[in-house]
Amino acid sequence: MIEARSLTMVYGNGHKATDDISFNVRAGEIVGFAGPNGAGKTTVIKMLTGILKPTSGTAVINGFDINSDPIKAKKSFAYIADNPDILIQLTGLEYLNFIADIYEVPSDVRKQKIGVLAERFGMADSLNTQMREYSHGMRQKLMVISALIHDPPAWILDEPMTGLDPSAAFELKQMMREHAAAGNAVLFSTHVLEVAEQLCNRIIIINKGKIIKEGTLDFIKLDNTGMTLEEIFVKLTGRPETD
Ligand SMILES: Nc1ncnc2c1ncn2[C@@H]1O[C@H](COP(=O)(O)OP(=O)(O)OP(=O)(O)O)[C@@H](O)[C@H]1O
Ligand SMILES: [Mg+2]
Repeated sequence: MIEARSLTMVYGNGHKATDDISFNVRAGEIVGFAGPNGAGKTTVIKMLTGILKPTSGTAVINGFDINSDPIKAKKSFAYIADNPDILIQLTGLEYLNFIADIYEVPSDVRKQKIGVLAERFGMADSLNTQMREYSHGMRQKLMVISALIHDPPAWILDEPMTGLDPSAAFELKQMMREHAAAGNAVLFSTHVLEVAEQLCNRIIIINKGKIIKEGTLDFIKLDNTGMTLEEIFVKLTGRPETD
């Protein structure tokens, strides 16, 4: 349902940030995308979502090519960016209505959805406050709510747990499980490997723009008996000071 096909990105300064990245997230799966800072996770996610045009390769979401059929592809996924500091001059509710307008969510549906999601994330009392007055975690919660306001089959989330308090992180993890169990696909990047261990059917580890390991947790642990995912990650990607 989320397909990366040979995604390569060479930035304007000549830096090859990702090199021939291909993977699939199928219906019913939660896939974790892990890798050190600067490995290329956000670059891949921006190519999957049509924010960046790949130097070569493409992405297909729910059967629609993001580059040749962008509107249908974009209607098929929810996206959480790695930075929640956007349009902070709006109130939370204004922002949610703006996003709901873009996705053409009917007013009765949006009212119901906003009510349920705001309650679930403890944001009901803050919706009429300008987002510039929100804490980082509150902005992040609002991004989560805005991403889920329409009901697309694929979720593509760039470090969605960053800054969330334990209750909100719990809710989001629960929602990811529910979404996948209902036959949808979830891809999320994370630095919190315990979360990846708890949630994912499969994990993709990327380093220096290339996939270095991919599979179920059991598969990844196969040649590393007794090690935690964190220990395996450090073994595979090296410590920063040894780079
Ligand atoms: N706009 C840009 N122009 C040039 N190079 C960039 C640009 N954006 C990212 N890069 C480079 O591409 C590489 C991958 O960056 P990216 O943001 O995809 O990493 P990441 O895995 O998401 O890292 P993090 O875990 O810190 O979020 C890095 O070397 C980064 O310096
Ligand atoms: Mg990133």
